[in-house]
Amino acid sequence: MSIVGDKNEIQQLIAAGQESLAKGRLPAGLVANAEVHKLEAQRVFGTCWQFLAHETEVPEAGDYVVRYLGGGSIIVVRGEDGEVRAMANSCRHRGTQLCRTEMGNTSHFRCPYHGWTYRNTGTLAGVPAQKEVYGVEMDKNEWSLTQVPRLENYGGLIFGCLDEKAAPLVDYLGDMAWYLDLITKKTQGGLEVRGEPQRWIIDSNWKLGADNFVGDAYHTLMTHRSAVELGLAPPDPKFASQPAHISLSNGHGLGVLGVPPGQPMPPFMNYPREVVDGLAEAYGDQDHADMLQGTAFIHGTIFPNLSFLNVLIGKDNKSMPVPMLTFRLWRPLSHDAMEVWSWFLVEKDADEEFKQQSYETYVRTFGISGVFEQDDAETWRSITAGTQGLLAGSQMLNFEMGMGVLTSDDTWKGPGRPLSSGYAERNQREFWGRLLELLTDSGDANETGPQLRAQSLTGADEVA
Ligand code: FES
Ligand code: FE
Repeated sequence: MSIVGDKNEIQQLIAAGQESLAKGRLPAGLVANAEVHKLEAQRVFGTCWQFLAHETEVPEAGDYVVRYLGGGSIIVVRGEDGEVRAMANSCRHRGTQLCRTEMGNTSHFRCPYHGWTYRNTGTLAGVPAQKEVYGVEMDKNEWSLTQVPRLENYGGLIFGCLDEKAAPLVDYLGDMAWYLDLITKKTQGGLEVRGEPQRWIIDSNWKLGADNFVGDAYHTLMTHRSAVELGLAPPDPKFASQPAHISLSNGHGLGVLGVPPGQPMPPFMNYPREVVDGLAEAYGDQDHADMLQGTAFIHGTIFPNLSFLNVLIGKDNKSMPVPMLTFRLWRPLSHDAMEVWSWFLVEKDADEEFKQQSYETYVRTFGISGVFEQDDAETWRSITAGTQGLLAGSQMLNFEMGMGVLTSDDTWKGPGRPLSSGYAERNQREFWGRLLELLTDSGDANETGPQLRAQSLTGADEVA
């Protein structure tokens, strides 16, 4: 195998990857490849909807947070008019970053270089010595901060997109919206972000986080063995295989795992009475409430790089487990490094005691120092290193799980294409399939931005 670097070589490898994925194989050389990383920057992160912030992070006029989109720093701010906007954190004079802090409240952003000053709606309000050096006629409207062209909110989650022609967010999400409702709309008051998102850097390609969360229930008993031994997870080797593994459109996917038989896990993820009693009313239907009743674990990825986890985990093997919800974003820094952003969210209407217990579950498990988080991070770092080099980079990785073996779960009450076991890899194949499709020279990303896909991209499906 040659070192992949040349433009033609990388396109050949991508084409080979598309072909082999249909048979459940992926060239290892695609996992953490520097040329793939450059293509992704344009063709994935320049075209797809991406999570920026939760609306409760900017509740008041003037509240702002600094985030990233398309490789650049972005200010997400609620203007004096109450509207949330997202704009480049970049002065229109020389490009100086206006926000030096990650969050705050301000009516104006003043550039620290020459003092151009912008309202929190993005319009240019003041230019030092304007009359003398630019003249009274200067059209300040022309020099507003550059807005993210598309900004939409689903269930309090604010997404931005750099492709003006992209389909509306709700169409991009497709059936994922139904499952987002399941985890975000348990109460009328919705969710609130508690504290600031935790951030840390891992020497791992970003896709390994997305791949894990989109469908990998299979690793639980091995990677998180120490948690099992501590009594934080059931010891039954099949416990994380409870249905279902659900494939959706556009590279999105998730697992909704049930309470394992014989496990002393309470219904409704042990959410407190004030949440459970109002579920059907808050959801607006009984189907979501019924699904939550038998669920213990929900994990998923919204393509490309937002994952979520709503899970019930105990403190030890004696106390009752408490649920928690986290959203996490895998921000690519290079082909072999990412910054993880991790938000903790909780039902606004829940009482303070539950909020605190839920937060503690998060910190213990999937916060920056959480036991599960540490296990996963080490594995992804190891895959990034383990797929490098002429020999390892030339091999095929096995993505065959479930092919020709698993059946569709016809009893499933939610949308999407469910499989009867959580131990499956169709979601992972479709995640990589969507990614490779966007990276091809002939891919639809080049001309018109991402198009919606209703069906499996990777051909070979499970036994019907
Ligand atoms: Fe911002 Fe000059 S760079 S005012
Ligand atoms: Fe894990």
